[in-house]
Amino acid sequence: MEYKNPLGVDIDLETGVIPGAKKLVRRLSDLKGYFVDEKAYEELLKENPVVYEVYAVEQEEKDGDLNFATTVLYPGKVGREFFFTKGHYHSKADRAEIYYGIKGKGGMLLQTPEGKAEWIEMKPGTVVYVPPYWAHRTVNTGDEPFIFLAVYPADAGHDYGSIAEKGFSKLVVEENGEVRIVDNPKWKE
Ligand code: 6PG
Ligand code: NI
Repeated sequence: MEYKNPLGVDIDLETGVIPGAKKLVRRLSDLKGYFVDEKAYEELLKENPVVYEVYAVEQEEKDGDLNFATTVLYPGKVGREFFFTKGHYHSKADRAEIYYGIKGKGGMLLQTPEGKAEWIEMKPGTVVYVPPYWAHRTVNTGDEPFIFLAVYPADAGHDYGSIAEKGFSKLVVEENGEVRIVDNPKWKE
């Protein structure tokens, strides 16, 4: 039997950085078609800000093993919509996931393949259980980076297709200074 080595790393709780992790950067240009207000999107694209960064420690895609990653989701809006991660189902759709809030303020939008949506607010210390089959997207509703840890099966994979095409049935927007969950006018089942 070949055993893997255990590993302990310290997440920088101020910046979300995991030393030695693989870093992924998503800019606004990587999120084309994701936001409802296309005019606001084109306008902000001139600056093309970083929307989020992911620091991932990943294993081979084998069942039984675990990956973990922090995400640093920056504050901002496109029109009335708060900055968010792309959102995905897992390629192995029955793989669940755990999130843990580290810094800042936001929430998670979850959705079944039939379009039933749920919104769960997150702050430092919040644990979110993402059940099998639910798509998940995080949203920064605050004015500082929203940082969280995700732990997920090593063989879960990411299926971005359906969310990239259809989005979520709900949007997270600012209305009169408040966070509101509203119907997505472009949602089609
Ligand atoms: C995962 C996690 C999480 C997620 C990031 C970026 O399954 O790996 O849900 O690490 O990937 O928060 O979000 P997107 O993958 O939707 O861009
Ligand atoms: Ni996931």
